[in-house]
Order: sequence, then C-alpha cells, then structure tokens
Amino acid sequence: MTGPTRFELDEYAARRARLMQAMGPDGVAVLPAAREAIRNRDVHYRFRQDSDFRYLTGFPEPDAIAVLAPGRPEGEYVLFVRPRDPAREVWDGRRAGVDGARAQYGADQAFAVADFDKELPRLIGDRARLHYTLGEHAGLDSRIAACMREIREVSRRGPAAPAEVVALETTLHEMRLHKTAPEVEIVREACAVTAQAHVRAMKFARPGRWEYEVAAEIHHEFELHGMEPGYGSIVGGGENACILHYVENSARLKDGDLLLIDAGGELKGYTSDITRCFPVNGRFSGPQKAVYEAVLAAQLAAIQELRVGNPCDSAHKAATRKLTEGMVELGLLAGTADERIKDEGFRRFFMHGTGHWLGMDVHDVGRYKLGGQHRPFAAGMVMTVEPGLYIAPGSEGVDPRFWGIGVRIEDDVLITEHGPEVLTGGVPKAVDEIEALMRDA
Ligand code: GLY
Ligand code: MN
Ligand code: MN
Repeated sequence: MTGPTRFELDEYAARRARLMQAMGPDGVAVLPAAREAIRNRDVHYRFRQDSDFRYLTGFPEPDAIAVLAPGRPEGEYVLFVRPRDPAREVWDGRRAGVDGARAQYGADQAFAVADFDKELPRLIGDRARLHYTLGEHAGLDSRIAACMREIREVSRRGPAAPAEVVALETTLHEMRLHKTAPEVEIVREACAVTAQAHVRAMKFARPGRWEYEVAAEIHHEFELHGMEPGYGSIVGGGENACILHYVENSARLKDGDLLLIDAGGELKGYTSDITRCFPVNGRFSGPQKAVYEAVLAAQLAAIQELRVGNPCDSAHKAATRKLTEGMVELGLLAGTADERIKDEGFRRFFMHGTGHWLGMDVHDVGRYKLGGQHRPFAAGMVMTVEPGLYIAPGSEGVDPRFWGIGVRIEDDVLITEHGPEVLTGGVPKAVDEIEALMRDA
C-alpha cells in the first residue's frame, strides 16, 4: 500500500505542530477517525475519512484514534490503529497496522486500537487541558469520561486528570478555515475538474434525456480524475429546481424547461461546489432569461465583496440588495427594494444564504462571527457565492410565465490580497456563452 508522499507527510506534521503550538505545552488532544457505516445488512457505505482526522494525520483507515501530546518524551504523535490481520485483509483490504502507522504515516508511537483505554490515562494524566470535541463521538465520549474518573480515583498522589476539557474545534477549525498553499492547489484542481464536468453536462443535456443520465455524465468526469461527488448531486429539470435539496434526479428533461445542476467533485478530501442553470433545449425563453439575469447580476455583485477586510456577510448583503431590486423589477415583489429588504419579503423567492466556507466539507468549518460581529475576510479563505431565485409553480400573485422557474448560480471563490479569484470560471454562466456552448455541442 502506498502511503502519503514525503511532501504530504510534512504538511500533516506542520499542521499538527501548529495545533500543538496553539494548545500549549500542557494540553493534549484526542480525535478519532470516522467509523464505517452500514448501508444495508452486511453492506457498508464507501468509507470516507473524518475531515478533521484526515487534515491532521492523512491516515485513511476507520477505527483509529490520534493523540497529540506536545513535548511528550516518547513521542508527541500517537496513533491507535487496527492491527494487521492477514485473514481479514483478504476480505476487507489492506491495513497499515501498528508498524505502518509509524513507517508510512509518521506516527511517533503506535498501538493497537484495542489498547486505547489502557494507554489513555498515561497520555492525558498530568495535562492541564484535554482538547476534545464532546458530543460528536458517542462511544468515545464515555470512554474518555471513564478514563478521567479512573485517573481521579485511582491515585490522588499520582497524575491529575485534566482540569479542563476544551472543544478541539475551536483551534482546529480556525486552522482549516485558512487554507495553506498546498490546500489551495487541491481545491483549485477540484474546481477545474468540476467545471469541466458541468461543461460536459451542458453539452449532453437535451429534451428527452433523464436527470440521472446527466448526473452520470458529471460523475463519469469526476471518476475519470479519481474523484467522487463531495455531496449529493442535484440535477433538477423544470420545477424540480425549486426544491432546494432535490436529489432524486429521476425525471425526464422537457423541451422548454431549465435544468439546475448543483454538483461538486471531491479531490483528496477537498470538494468543489458549483451550480449552473441552463435551458434543456439550448435557448433561454424570455421569462427564464429575465430571472436568470437577475440572479447573475446579484452573483457578480456579491463576488466583488469577497475582499480582504470586508465583513463576511457583505456578499449576502450585496446579493440580497441586487436580487430584491431584480424581483421588484420583474414584478415578483410589490413596493420598493428597500421595503422588501427591511421586512425580508425577498425570502419568499430567495430563502437561503449567499454562500458558505468551502474546503474538506462542502459546508466547511470555521466561525462566521467573532465576538458577535461578522468576521473580516482574510486571504486564503474559500467561499461559495450562490444566490438563487425560486418561483414555485402556482405562486399566488405572480405572472404564471414565471411559475416553476428556479435559478441558482454558484461559484467557488478564493480570497486573495489582490481581490476575489473565481476558481470555477471554467464553466460559462453568461446567457450568450451558455447558448453558444450548447449550440456547438
Ligand atoms: N451543494 C450544497 C450547497 O450549495 O450549499
Ligand atoms: Mn454551496
Ligand atoms: Mn452547491
């Protein structure tokens, strides 16, 4: 089995060092790998490593636990892993084992995961703070609590149990929010392939094809690049586009309908997140174009807000302003844009936010507010920009020509010192560009 490259190992080690630096010399961190999940009976879902665990270790197997103990003489980075088991490995695949955890994955010390409860008191005893995210890993929570009790009870003269339990995510998720250069390169690549997949879908779609056939085109492109969907792909024709989390992808595409595709490929644990919306027959109708242009204007305005120092809600504010003006112009909303922003009347047709952090998780970690205020953008953050307008069929008081039109346009944007950098520009979004691409397909 080939483990991580030297370069990747160095990157994981640098992350652990930074985390340990932030924890301080009297802290200790415990974090588990993901568990395998049953799909049905004895069939598992394809294993996907926990993002936090992968970020710090690169270790790809389930049922492992990492302990980081700064300054510990026997080693700061301890991995508990499934031991080698040739008979099981014939069925379930290779394991690194205890030796591989050190040789291939750079652990200073490694144990069989069955020894975790036995070893833990020595690892966390006499540390002031335990960095661990309570409430996320039910089984492990109680084992750690039992260990704390054991340390307290067994020996009042021996090592003390940590006096504080600190949410590990406070430090770790702050790190994940600010992408390093190697992370940015992976996201960039995931975005480039995802853009290509959307182009492929645009060329493939036509009346009579099925939503799942379009999804298959997209997933084929991902798999050709060793990628998989980073979340459930949404391929919704016509009024299915008005269901925000439509994942059935089971309907036939109709002439005259729009098709909304929200799909992103995951590469080396980092996902892209693109939405495009285009006419199944290659030509926008008048009402479709009007709605589409309103969303596009809002999206372009919002992207311009992703600048170092701007509060991170500025994109949503800009999108809301533009989109509400558009809705008033289209006659979807009565009154003025100011009034409908104030009373949030715009929410009838634009009911979600404008974006989210993007990284290992599609809705990536990292706080949006610090001290009650929206935090400022910093270089190295990646955010999606995805305003949308959804006019449900039968919407009362709305011109029926707009019924069933759902449009969202979503790009992934890197915040840089030089302004916003759209990473997903490889797939067109201007009306004439989309129509040209579909015409030439
Ligand atoms: N695809 C999930 C989202 O756009 O938030
Ligand atoms: Mn998104
Ligand atoms: Mn999306």
